[in-house]
Amino acid sequence: MKVGIIGGTGYTGSELLRLLAMHPEAEVVAVTSRTLAGKPIHEVHRFLKGFYDLEFVEPVLRNLEDCDVVFTAVPHGEAMKFVPELMDVGIKVVDLSADYRLDRETYEKVYGKKHEGYRDAVYGLTELHRDEIAKADLVANPGCYPTGAILAVAPIAEKVERVVFDAKSGITGAGAKPTEFTHYPNLHEAIVPYKVTNHRHYWEIVKELRAFNPEIEVSFTPQVFPGSRGILTSAHVFMKDIPSREELYGIYEKFYGNCYFVRLQDEVRLNWVRGSNFCDIAIFVGEDRIVVCSAIDNLVKGASGQAIQNMNVMFGLEEWVGLNNPPLFP
Ligand SMILES: NC(=O)c1ccc[n+]([C@@H]2O[C@H](COP(=O)([O-])OP(=O)(O)OC[C@H]3O[C@@H](n4cnc5c(N)ncnc54)[C@H](OP(=O)(O)O)[C@@H]3O)[C@@H](O)[C@H]2O)c1
Repeated sequence: MKVGIIGGTGYTGSELLRLLAMHPEAEVVAVTSRTLAGKPIHEVHRFLKGFYDLEFVEPVLRNLEDCDVVFTAVPHGEAMKFVPELMDVGIKVVDLSADYRLDRETYEKVYGKKHEGYRDAVYGLTELHRDEIAKADLVANPGCYPTGAILAVAPIAEKVERVVFDAKSGITGAGAKPTEFTHYPNLHEAIVPYKVTNHRHYWEIVKELRAFNPEIEVSFTPQVFPGSRGILTSAHVFMKDIPSREELYGIYEKFYGNCYFVRLQDEVRLNWVRGSNFCDIAIFVGEDRIVVCSAIDNLVKGASGQAIQNMNVMFGLEEWVGLNNPPLFP
């Protein structure tokens, strides 16, 4: 497959490049940057020296026309400017932004802007939508928080009355551009709740969980911790007739039986998934609630790894091709 990346200087763009360097069926042929067009990739991403002999190119259609698939790894509101023209010339797209994850009306309400290039897309949480992804020309890759949250609860969502997600993300979730919020002295040794009751990813989580159970009530609190990668989610799940721990593990094992990248564990740690496409899940049963913890690498299963997993499914490959590396530990 000939692959293009729009937004190759950002964190998800460089993570796509890192992962695709190990993919046996994919060849990256075009990587864009508005600001660094003409510069060799390895001069910008020094850690990739020796893996790519390409220069960044301007993000215009003529530079991407040879591609079978393009990843749009750009901010929301920008992907919609590229997606329709790519699709019109028969290129498949995996969009990493939020532009195609919600229906048009909800998107315009939540993101406060008119959608100028709306197309129907399949929501790219591979474990839940594999069959539709296989037929899709446009896949909306999920947000990082929704990936960890939805996978934690999907197997039991039908029976859940209320779920409270407490999620902690590494700083790369905020993108490569430094801000006052992400500035080292401001975040070092701090864990910061932000957008506490109004994070936009709430809407994706609700949409997917309500497909299992229209009555489910959802709360979501995001926080940032001073590490680079990872999202740790604790889902506090309230339901009548709490099953035993053994029953719950049985339900999850059955639900994720054919899911290579979901691993059931006794406990989870971010440094057991770092650099990998795995989502680890552990289940704990209390008197009043179940707590399901999930751990992902936000740049891999939460973004670029899942995007490649989706590309694999779209092109009829096993979903783990090129992604079958163990996590980086310690
Ligand atoms: N970071 C994560 O953990 C994560 C996880 C899931 C999803 N996402 C989503 O994935 C997308 C990319 O995230 P990121 O963290 O990689 O962001 P980032 O580090 O800020 O990178 C954004 C990239 O987009 C390019 N870009 C910006 N505006 C553009 C435009 N108008 N036209 C063409 N290219 C443009 C930039 O390149 P130039 O300025 O060089 O052109 C840069 O390479 C976002 O929508 C984000 O919400 C991120």
